[in-house]
Amino acid sequence: MPLVTYQGLTFEPYLTREEIARQVERVAAEIKRDCTTDNPLFLCVLNGAFMFAADLFRACDLARAEITFIRFKSYEGTSSTGKVREIMGLHEDISGREVIIIEDIVDTGVTAHQLRKMLLEHNPKSVKMATLLFKPGSLKIGDNPEYVGFEIPSKFIIGYGLDLDGMARNLSDIYVLKKDE
Ligand code: IMP
Ligand code: MG
Repeated sequence: MPLVTYQGLTFEPYLTREEIARQVERVAAEIKRDCTTDNPLFLCVLNGAFMFAADLFRACDLARAEITFIRFKSYEGTSSTGKVREIMGLHEDISGREVIIIEDIVDTGVTAHQLRKMLLEHNPKSVKMATLLFKPGSLKIGDNPEYVGFEIPSKFIIGYGLDLDGMARNLSDIYVLKKDE
């Protein structure tokens, strides 16, 4: 896989589509194993998680599973602003339901923490989080995600839904910012 460049920054190959697909299958199997009801509600956090959510939701082939979407924004450029803005809210009634949040990446944990707190106010049966990527070294607040595709070091990555100011979401593989950038 070749290097890619966005906004003058160079990124090198990090996780291939085959490696990603394997971890998606594993996480889906863990979720199915743990579900105690047959109609969990998957909650995809836009924008970054849309690609992972599509693959994970398909792989979690529970007959009455549902999916819905919420939108948050916290990143500008290659770092978190520390503040999370809710741009598109949740309209479903989640009381008594098993909710599985789908995130692309848990970095500082601010988004995850805020979302869990907000959901728990509406009396769900349970709230769990599935994230494709987790940077444990960056976590500042909240619990570890229940389901993790890959634990990674605190480096900036793009591809498979993850962006640099809106670009690079359409890459099928994941790339990491080169060390000397
Ligand atoms: P957190 O609130 O700091 O945990 O980060 C939440 C959001 O920041 C994630 O859902 C991503 O959208 C974005 N983000 C964090 N790390 C990266 C990265 O390495 N590349 C692209 N986006 C990231
Ligand atoms: Mg995100």
